[in-house]
Amino acid sequence: MSVQCTINCELPAVYINKRLLLRRAAWLLRKNGVADHSLSILLINDDEISWLNQHYRNKQGPTNVLSFPLEDYPFKELGDIVISAETAYVEAQKLNISLHDRLTWLITHGLLHLLGHDHEQGEKEALAMWDLEQKLISQLQQSRSIQMAQLAINVDHVATVRNARGITEPDPVAAASICELAGAAGIVVHLREDRRHINDRDVRLLRETIKTRMNLEMGANKKIIEIALGLKPDMVTLVPEKREELTTEGGLDVAGQKKKLAKTIAKMRKAGIPVSLFIDPEEKQVRASYDIGATYVELHTGRYCDATSESEREKEYKFIAESADEAYEMGLRVNAGHGLDYQTTSRIAALDTIEELSIGHAIIARAIYVGLDQAVREMKKIVHDASMIV
Ligand code: PXP
Repeated sequence: MSVQCTINCELPAVYINKRLLLRRAAWLLRKNGVADHSLSILLINDDEISWLNQHYRNKQGPTNVLSFPLEDYPFKELGDIVISAETAYVEAQKLNISLHDRLTWLITHGLLHLLGHDHEQGEKEALAMWDLEQKLISQLQQSRSIQMAQLAINVDHVATVRNARGITEPDPVAAASICELAGAAGIVVHLREDRRHINDRDVRLLRETIKTRMNLEMGANKKIIEIALGLKPDMVTLVPEKREELTTEGGLDVAGQKKKLAKTIAKMRKAGIPVSLFIDPEEKQVRASYDIGATYVELHTGRYCDATSESEREKEYKFIAESADEAYEMGLRVNAGHGLDYQTTSRIAALDTIEELSIGHAIIARAIYVGLDQAVREMKKIVHDASMIV
């Protein structure tokens, strides 16, 4: 299958995610049994589509979509779908849906034309085409909803506060339950070699009490590996760990220590524990993670969150979006986290390649002012609303 998408227009202040459209078009081809065919999608402006509309259909003014089938073509080429992104944008606003959802709708409509459906052939055919279009859109949305980002909460900092006093309160185990009651889809804890926050008692009790998913962050260290194998969390995330660091500072250099990490992954796999590798958003690290059999990668969002200028943040965002696409297309599951807060999370959660966000500090810090329940609910709303943007 080959789907090409060319964007020959610009909408002010709107980013058109070409990879997203390609993924959705590929899904539509598979669903319609023409996965072995090629398709071309062209996004243009109103002036250009008006010209095509006049030239090929003798109709004046812009339209939203035109299909040009390659009839009787001897190869498996379906033809071209040409869309006015400007008209699609106006329609999306009127329908109160996202531009990408409107573009997907128009691609679906155009594809059905290329496959021989034509609503202009009479009422019966128009109804049948409409039905099919609705069915495809709703199935596509369901398949996407599996991909909507979930919120996992790191409760390490609750333990940091407890340990500062050397007593039993606040308890990260109780905090984890509150996070789950407020809608967290998972709990993350980092069992460090120096036990500076989460300790062995915490992970034992959390394993017993977590109702959602327990993600154990850890260094690939012999003693911690043994604990993880005994504990059997729902997944582990391997991170680089240095004693002198305040928090996990960079991603794992998977490419530089493939052998060691592959061994740890194999041990976990044998015990039925999926492994995620915490990496910087770089193609080399994504590829290496895939090569050594990771189930997930967690993309480090720290540089994006810490950016001090708009242009730097944009650059870092692109690295994350592109690495997430690369990982997703290789078949890796994709999580992201580190440094995300109530301002920076939305754009990351809007990437439909990302399954789960791991957020700790911002939520626990806000909980001091508004309470843990509300802090979790506010972040959950941001994550949920963001998945409606694309
Ligand atoms: N993901 C990983 C791998 C981490 O090490 C951390 C920090 O413990 C987080 C996510 C959460 O980062 P933050 O506390 O900045 O939200």
